[in-house]
Amino acid sequence: KRIVVLISGTGSNMQAIQQACENGKVAGKVVAVISNKASAKGLEKAATKGIDTEVLSHKEFDSREAYDAELKTLIDSYQPDLVVLAGFMRILTGEFTRHYEGRMFNIHPSLLPKYKGVNTHQRALDAGDTEHGVSVHFVTEELDGGPVALQAKVPIFEGDTVEDIQARVHEQEHRIYPLVVNWFCQERLKLEGGRVTLDGEV
Ligand code: GRF
Repeated sequence: KRIVVLISGTGSNMQAIQQACENGKVAGKVVAVISNKASAKGLEKAATKGIDTEVLSHKEFDSREAYDAELKTLIDSYQPDLVVLAGFMRILTGEFTRHYEGRMFNIHPSLLPKYKGVNTHQRALDAGDTEHGVSVHFVTEELDGGPVALQAKVPIFEGDTVEDIQARVHEQEHRIYPLVVNWFCQERLKLEGGRVTLDGEV
């Protein structure tokens, strides 16, 4: 399967998925990495692996609709089976999310439906939570609101900093994102009638 990954920053999740493809752990290939920021570190990492990289800056567009329309055209020029959002820090229009319904994932650093939006680790810490985690979900129009495919939990210990929690979450992200992408590539994981279905063994 052909995978296009969208990033805005470090791209460690993109890298985890790319490596899993290379190692045969994901039945797919990352065909392009697209960023809305030219400074995204992940772009160099992708280029090193010989993957096509593209920058489409949102600053050059007057509206969210215009940006998303151009982004859609760019993504579709790679004819992907799957679009993976990996730290892509943009709110997406309904038209865009509907176009990729059932074939676009996002990873969000919380146990959804808890803590949609930003600063999730700080919010979990402030709330005194002892449990936190990460979710991979199908993308729908509602921000961080699409059906969850898989979650992983991490503990929060007394005295933890945001950085401690972030490191623990990242470790889980790099484990579960390739797993979900592989299930999708194997056509075992689907969005059917707004619900997630998984065939076979986890
Ligand atoms: C991850 O923590 C992810 O959950 C969030 O953005 C971060 C991206 O990290 N959506 P990276 O760019 O993959 O390293």
